Amino acid sequence: MDRMRIIGGVPLEGTIPIGGAKNAALPLMAASLLSDETLRLENVPDLADVAAMANLLAQHGVDIERGEWPGPGDGCLELSAAHITSVTAPYDLVRKMRASVLVLGPLVARCGRARVSLPGGCAIGTRPIDLHINGLRKFGVEIELSGGYVEARAPKGLHGAEIVFPFVSVGATEQLLMAATLAEGESVLINAAREPEIGDLAECLVKMGARIDGVGSDRLHVTGVGRLHGAVHRIIPDRIETGTFIMAAAATGGDVRLTHTRPDFVTAVIRRLDGAGIELTTAEDSIRVRRRGDGLDGVDVTTEPYPGYPTDLQAQFMALMTTARGVSLITETVFENRFMHVPELARMGANITVQGASALVRGVPRLIGAPVMATDLRASVSLVIAGLVAEGETVINRVYHLDRGYERLEDKLAACGARIERLRDGA
Ligand code: UD1
Repeated sequence: MDRMRIIGGVPLEGTIPIGGAKNAALPLMAASLLSDETLRLENVPDLADVAAMANLLAQHGVDIERGEWPGPGDGCLELSAAHITSVTAPYDLVRKMRASVLVLGPLVARCGRARVSLPGGCAIGTRPIDLHINGLRKFGVEIELSGGYVEARAPKGLHGAEIVFPFVSVGATEQLLMAATLAEGESVLINAAREPEIGDLAECLVKMGARIDGVGSDRLHVTGVGRLHGAVHRIIPDRIETGTFIMAAAATGGDVRLTHTRPDFVTAVIRRLDGAGIELTTAEDSIRVRRRGDGLDGVDVTTEPYPGYPTDLQAQFMALMTTARGVSLITETVFENRFMHVPELARMGANITVQGASALVRGVPRLIGAPVMATDLRASVSLVIAGLVAEGETVINRVYHLDRGYERLEDKLAACGARIERLRDGA
């Protein structure tokens, strides 16, 4: 398994281009199942999770042409689901990536049948899919759980319904939004998630002929249509990649310009970092990051659904706060058990106390490099940030987590002066 070696202590300086959003790309790819015509997606990031979704769709019979993909910059995918040859999403593919369950709604809406493996537990909590299943049942889908699979049938098609989410779920909103586009009659999704990736999905579905009102709000109104057609859609910039590099630049005391991004997607992040003493200068599609004074100040953060502070930037913020002056209270409200990075950061000298859903970070003057590893994507990248700040050498194991969500991470950081290299398996 590849590892990443970092020699810390170099302030990042330069420009980093931000890629397309992973969490928009995955549901958009699943949306290709809704039409027998070609969906062309642009600005597709070259990531292991995107390849995993492509594999899954290919075994459903989706024909996938890769434009300039895989390759840096402007990847493009043409997905054509003219003939769906299998409605089964097998365990082996689903267990590797939870977002695989997003094929369930499109398959049952288009084909009247789907058989999708339950994703199972994962490193950041139990993450059930009860909201997905309950919502599809309201659309008239008969669902049985058997042998670890969701068996879904709707021989007469789906009918529209009012769905009230008891709490905000990104995946369930996406799942039911896609299904509703082909359901007969009106559907309303109330207390829907408002993440920009959902707005992106809705915009693409509208291009495909769906009728959706309320995009960007927590109440989505869908009027079902008989069929969807092909479309061309450019994926929004990745706000989590943006936030991660903001944190890396701030942590190292550097001066970095992020381009091809959307500052309005990271407003909550900018607000917190401003309080910590980071100057963020925004233009329409770029953000410049540098420190205002000679150090960082501790600030508190609570993760929340969008437009609140994102859970996917909690671990990175914690890495940033490890060397801030004073204390920072970080509270995780979206996922249970999302503090796996804490013991690893502590091995590098961080002073962190976890109590329930909160972590109290007492800033220390410096971190010291160490061999570390993490069990999820965002936790892994928080260790990269810590490694960039730490004295000496940090080796991060299980780099495949990083490859799931960060395109050319080491190249982008090295271009800003970071001393980082990938150690290939066996090196
Ligand atoms: C998506 C993102 C992920 C991000 C998360 C929260 C993708 C591919 N992944 O994940 O990076 O961290 O949103 O912003 O876009 N829940 C249930 N029952 C359900 C569904 C969810 O209890 O049926 C719970 C989850 O366990 C979690 C919370 O709801 O505690 C939020 O999860 P959700 O918003 O659904 O996250 P994902 O869509 O899995």
